[in-house]
Amino acid sequence: MPKVRFVKENMEIEVPAGTTILAAAKKARAPQGDRCGGVCACSTCHVYVVDGFDRTSDIEDEEFDILDKAFDVRSTSRLGCQARVLGDIAVEITDESFEAFLDEHPDDKARARALRPG
Ligand code: FES
Repeated sequence: MPKVRFVKENMEIEVPAGTTILAAAKKARAPQGDRCGGVCACSTCHVYVVDGFDRTSDIEDEEFDILDKAFDVRSTSRLGCQARVLGDIAVEITDESFEAFLDEHPDDKARARALRPG
């Protein structure tokens, strides 16, 4: 099964091929925001695929449209709720997404912050 590594949190998890990055983050309990619930409507699940971008599913027009709303979009940007894992990848959860997670999960802030010291 493909491995997804969350570089800032130093976490790694194996997921079946075809799993979204967001679903992998939830399984790993990595702090990735998902304000719209994963329906490609908010951009709070914005991540950078820092290794293995070509081992993710193709970007559809709908994802491009929503990515336009995100901060600091790069060539490696994806929406975690739309990008599917096809092989081993490494992901950086954006600060924007991390902050959204903190807002969405007030009871989990301490654990999440401890994962990303500094
Ligand atoms: Fe809202 Fe991905 S969770 S666009």
